[in-house]
Amino acid sequence: MSPSPDIHPVDPDVAANARIDRDAYERLYAESVADPERFWGRVGERLEWMRTPTRIKDVDFDARNLHIRWYADGELNASVNCLDRHLEARGDKTALVFEPDDPEHGAQHISYRALHERVCKLANALRSLGVRKGDRVTIYLPMIPEAAVAMLACARVGAIHSVVFGGFAANSIADRVADCESKLIITADEGRRGGRTVPLKANVDAALKLPGTNSVETVLVVRHTGAAVDMQMPRDRWYDAVTKDQPAQCEPERMNAEDPLFILYTSGSTGKPKGVLHTTGGYLVYASYTHELVFDLREDDVYWCTADVGWVTGHSYIVYGPLANGATALMFEGVPNHPDTSRFWQVVDKHQVTIFYTAPTAIRALMRDGDGPVKRTSRSSLRLLGSVGEPINPEAWRWYYEVVGDSRCPVVDTWWQTETGGIMISPLPGATDLKPGSATRPFFGVRPALVDTNGAILEGEAEGNLVILDSWPGQMRTVYGDHQRFIDTYFRTYPGTYFSGDGCRRDADGDYWITGRVDDVINVSGHRIGTAEVESALVSHPKVAEAAVVGFPHDIKGQGIYAYVTLLAGEMSSEELRKELVAHVRSEIGPIATPDHLQWAPGLPKTRSGKIMRRILRKIAENAPDQLGDTSTLADPSVVQSLVDERLGR
Ligand code: WT7
Repeated sequence: MSPSPDIHPVDPDVAANARIDRDAYERLYAESVADPERFWGRVGERLEWMRTPTRIKDVDFDARNLHIRWYADGELNASVNCLDRHLEARGDKTALVFEPDDPEHGAQHISYRALHERVCKLANALRSLGVRKGDRVTIYLPMIPEAAVAMLACARVGAIHSVVFGGFAANSIADRVADCESKLIITADEGRRGGRTVPLKANVDAALKLPGTNSVETVLVVRHTGAAVDMQMPRDRWYDAVTKDQPAQCEPERMNAEDPLFILYTSGSTGKPKGVLHTTGGYLVYASYTHELVFDLREDDVYWCTADVGWVTGHSYIVYGPLANGATALMFEGVPNHPDTSRFWQVVDKHQVTIFYTAPTAIRALMRDGDGPVKRTSRSSLRLLGSVGEPINPEAWRWYYEVVGDSRCPVVDTWWQTETGGIMISPLPGATDLKPGSATRPFFGVRPALVDTNGAILEGEAEGNLVILDSWPGQMRTVYGDHQRFIDTYFRTYPGTYFSGDGCRRDADGDYWITGRVDDVINVSGHRIGTAEVESALVSHPKVAEAAVVGFPHDIKGQGIYAYVTLLAGEMSSEELRKELVAHVRSEIGPIATPDHLQWAPGLPKTRSGKIMRRILRKIAENAPDQLGDTSTLADPSVVQSLVDERLGR
């Protein structure tokens, strides 16, 4: 465990102009953990409050008395902070640049003033449709400006938005709508991705035929591709029709800092996805502050995060963080390889992007195509690169740094989670020496620690499970509708701490290296998929008796999905059935859960008490049958040999 010899010291020019240099980092970090009240009280002043908070931090991580409150007597509105506040000084500044899937369709530039007007009109429309403070609204949209408008309009009227990624199928939409009892859905006729269309409205129609979705009164439909869709009156309304005659001003709802801002569903190791709930004040302070410092934001930056608004990265670092900071943020509807694999860099040149934030999976996929598609473009506007979503392998880091950034732009490898609301461990470009593959240092106020499986805290150079010892303002507050699950998932494993679910190593310099999930969550292309969800989709097929799903190393996706399937007695395995099962998972959950491999399993390795030994299945999937470890507790050891034989013969 020697420290990486590959260290990129802070560039002196970057440090000279940065908000935070090395000394400032050390001083502020020490202050932030010594006196969080004072530190976060001061940082909280960055927002515009309707009532200034006086109670800054009120937290207990003890599971018996768990509570997390920040700025609890403060009042504010998130949309006011993202829009109204900028109108005077930045009214004509571009808030959003929209780059469509098809480059021929032309980009749009939406000023803060124009965005404010669009948000107010939709907010008024939502009110006219009966949406009130605390109501839940599901947003199922492509990466078009209306997605940001919809989120901010919800925030304006105090409705809690739940954005569902456009890659989820009807069942997944229905589960999420049912769990939070959404009153209204905002969708589009279709989405566009890589030259193909996604039938969003049809998916919503299918979802609303499923049980548990009766709460939905209205479906607002954005006309995007112009495709014909089935409009079911009076439930379905055209977005244009309901917004066009609304007033361009809308009184914002006064929200308590601890009132919910949004729910975002994410996969856990067991059961259905959890509704991660974020509140208004602490979340916005944290998203905007991390966005400003990690990206060392300047007034004239053009900032581009390639994530989808359906994930937390899109929430915090396309919408709330950048807009609260008055930045210019680019929204891209497309994919990295359409029309060709030079697209990202063409967009960088076209819009003179200065900060670029993407996921390792995209970097690895583009890297496979060589340097040519990158080198055909200038990229001279770039000054900072970011990575998020999964561990970035040093090889991909170096390609990103050397080829994309011409060895000129620092790379910030940002570790965080849906649950954390914002970046937790990351270099600051003017303060931190970079090491390919390491997320390096904690952000202000973040107290990471490594524990062994007994919960003992490990000091110095060590490897263990990553916990956070104290709260930060952007932390999730509960699992929507299931507070007990919140406590059990995050605060019971290592009492008194927040457990991330990640494994991690700390080197001799004190830098953190995330090693990946230690629970039954698979990180596929930076997206979390619960093994339990894929298993339950598989066993819902009439021919399947049992299924076990594990992750395995995948060159591009980071991890792939490997499914072992046992058929019901009398059912015959076939290539056709394999395809049918893969298609079944896609239609049950969505294309993002597509199994990469599906292996027939006459039996699954189980303990005598019937527990599936996933450790063994992981090793077989990895093609490492010599590392199966102790198999003496298996009820029927012969099962393993047949799985290994089948795997080798594949
Ligand atoms: C999981 C959280 C945070 C926004 C996108 C994903 C992994 C995330 C990194 C990183 C290594 C990372 C972790 C984490 N992860 N960023 N920079 N280095 N691993 O959010 O879907 O909630 O997933 O993604 O395993 O627990 P998410």
